Amino acid sequence: MGFLGNMTVAAAAAAALLALATFEIAACSTESPQVPCFFIFGDSLVDNGNNNGILTLARANYLPYGVDFPDGATGRFTNGRTTVDILAELLGFQGFIRPYEGTRGAAILRGLNYASGASGIREESGSNLGAHIPMGEQVQRFRGTVRQIGRLLRGNQTAVNELLGRCIFYAAIGSNDYLNNYFMPDSYSTSADYDPKTYAALLIQDYTRQLTALYDTGARKVAVGAVGQIGCIPYQLARYDGAAANGSRCNERILLLLLLLLLLLLLLLLLLLLLLLLLLLLLLPPPPPPQRFDVIDKGCCGVGRNNGQITCLPLQQPCDDRSKYLFWDAFHPTDAANVVLAGKAFNSTARSDAYPRNIQQLAAA
Ligand SMILES: *[C@@H]1O[C@H](CO)[C@@H](O)[C@H](O)[C@H]1NC(C)=O
Repeated sequence: MGFLGNMTVAAAAAAALLALATFEIAACSTESPQVPCFFIFGDSLVDNGNNNGILTLARANYLPYGVDFPDGATGRFTNGRTTVDILAELLGFQGFIRPYEGTRGAAILRGLNYASGASGIREESGSNLGAHIPMGEQVQRFRGTVRQIGRLLRGNQTAVNELLGRCIFYAAIGSNDYLNNYFMPDSYSTSADYDPKTYAALLIQDYTRQLTALYDTGARKVAVGAVGQIGCIPYQLARYDGAAANGSRCNERILLLLLLLLLLLLLLLLLLLLLLLLLLLLLLPPPPPPQRFDVIDKGCCGVGRNNGQITCLPLQQPCDDRSKYLFWDAFHPTDAANVVLAGKAFNSTARSDAYPRNIQQLAAA
């Protein structure tokens, strides 16, 4: 699992607001969200269809993915909504933020989702599954979007900056730099080339560059998600007997590596806060056993031990009561779990959920 958060503000001139209002009305007639737009970067935890047209095993545009989603299987890697779908609802958007792939015209003014399943901070992460759009390329795509927004706003750069400064940006990535890279010594040399500390430092260095590029392009209110507790997902529980045997539901070696990354991430965010005047929000991984779910160690749909050996296959029969499961498949939370996670990111005041502020405060800042 992976989660996130962070952000900022800007002043506005009446003329620009008028121009923007016109476009918003054209895009969606009755919408009055708390922020004008919401841009999303990340991996399969928040991908909403960007991988549908590319050659990869990391795809979810087939049933039973989407079995509880109004539009069916859209490419979301869960039975229903992702955390950012629910965050968009909480922010007051009517209808979800659209995938970058296939969205053109004035609709881009309310934000886009660039996330791509299997992708990571590093370009090569996830290549074992096929093609994907790594974080660096997601940021490039956002740059292209900003050029289009500039044309929609008749080349008025002040108006573009004013708009982007009020939007929420959500970046949550990094799980695949471990799952589909560092932890796969047969396919990647990173674990031989770098010790855990050096590898975490390299990831943070790349991520810093990517987040700074977002800032340079106009992002001010950025929510940065921490890497989730991937030592506790059914996939890892199926790979390593030890976890279940010693009574823990998590792989402790992985937890230690992630803690390292988390500490560095926290440092990075504090640094950005100082240097760039960004307001940041960081979501730490949720505490162990969320008591509200009966089943926390195996996927609702999947194959093998803990339903955790591979993802849910086409037309496979999922569990009946999805609301009782923390995990939908070997890697990804259910809609029910995402409601809990998004709710915490949105308005929790616990430091372990969102720091130094939550997304609701980010929106209002
Ligand atoms: C551009 O936008 C700014 C504020 O967003 C506004 O004050 C200004 O009048 C606009 N310029 C033009 C030429 O429309």
